[in-house]
Amino acid sequence: MKIVVAGGTGTVGRHVADVVRERGHTAVVLSRATGTDLVSGKGMARALEEANAVIDVTSVKTQSAKASVAFFSTVTRNLLNAGRAAGVHHHVALSIVGSNLAPYGYYAGKAAQEHLISNGNVPWTMLRATQFHEFAQQIFRRFTVGPIHVIPVMKCQPVAAREVAERLVTLAEG
Ligand SMILES: NC(=O)c1ccc[n+]([C@@H]2O[C@H](COP(=O)([O-])OP(=O)(O)OC[C@H]3O[C@@H](n4cnc5c(N)ncnc54)[C@H](OP(=O)(O)O)[C@@H]3O)[C@@H](O)[C@H]2O)c1
Repeated sequence: MKIVVAGGTGTVGRHVADVVRERGHTAVVLSRATGTDLVSGKGMARALEEANAVIDVTSVKTQSAKASVAFFSTVTRNLLNAGRAAGVHHHVALSIVGSNLAPYGYYAGKAAQEHLISNGNVPWTMLRATQFHEFAQQIFRRFTVGPIHVIPVMKCQPVAAREVAERLVTLAEG
């Protein structure tokens, strides 16, 4: 299979690309680092040619609902439109457990993404995962005030990004 991994250089995305290749498929990684900006959409049509499935594991570093909704809505629309034009018959996306119940801040973007995909016309599968074990490191790096790292107190039941990646690829294969 040819599987497009949108955000395939990220925390979970690089595991997704690894698993796709380990299972003998072709992985096409789309990210700004690999030359494709999914917000502008430039160059996407070509990348999606003859793809069997798209796995969307893109993300934006923001806690602003407005910025999150703008990012996830634009990227999702671009991927769905390009996917439909290219004949992609499975759009797999990663969301977060609880984002539909608390659509605020960053989660507002995830809720918008879920809405667009579930009301779109490309066949889809949505996986909602809890926070990754790697999330602690992401938070540590992101929330800084000068030399101070701000760590929120939060209860969660984390999962390894690699395990989530394996599940996403299994879903795409199905
Ligand atoms: N982190 C968690 O604990 C967790 C838990 C459950 C679900 N999720 C979901 O999993 C997904 C991935 O999260 P993550 O933590 O792995 O994210 P991440 O490490 O921040 O990676 C984000 C990916 O998106 C790409 N990207 C960002 N802006 C882009 C753009 N304009 N065009 C193309 N690519 C772009 C990045 O590559 P470039 O910077 O090179 O563009 C990178 O590959 C998100 O949807 C998130 O909601 C995360």
